[in-house]
Amino acid sequence: MIRKLATLFSVLAVVAIISGVSTAEDKKENKYTTKKFMQAVKTGGLHTKVIKGEASEAETKLFAAYVKALPTNKPPKGSAESWKKLTGALAKATENHLAGKEGSAEALAKAMNCKACHTPHKVYPPKK
Ligand code: HEC
Repeated sequence: MIRKLATLFSVLAVVAIISGVSTAEDKKENKYTTKKFMQAVKTGGLHTKVIKGEASEAETKLFAAYVKALPTNKPPKGSAESWKKLTGALAKATENHLAGKEGSAEALAKAMNCKACHTPHKVYPPKK
């Protein structure tokens, strides 16, 4: 009986460890994926509003959060080096724009160039 209980407890312990691991994974799940960012860009023109200075505070925050997460998101293709460069330039341009630096709107529009980033990093047709 004692031995059976001990076995049961060790099974429970393993289950607890496994479920503990999976909840940790869930928490790590990224709210700001590249896909979600792109959908906001495409359907809401999020970046255009930010560039033109027409974004609400919530929209500005959302844009900044997407931009900040971008370098840590893995692109479906292309080198890590190129991704780091493009997303880094976008982060810098966003920072300058939010700080109200001169010429920052043009710089941000350039850093948001769709094709310049899609050609090296987006898979056509997109993977589901
Ligand atoms: C810094 C890089 C970068 C820039 C700039 C960029 N994109 Fe993307 N975009 C990506 C990547 C990477 C993907 C592929 C995401 C995936 O499949 O996970 C993508 C995918 C997309 C998708 C498909 C999303 C889906 O649901 O699969 C759309 C639409 C899109 N981009 C629109 C745009 C538009 C419009 C612009 C310009 C205004 C733009 N993107 C600028 C990197 C970028």
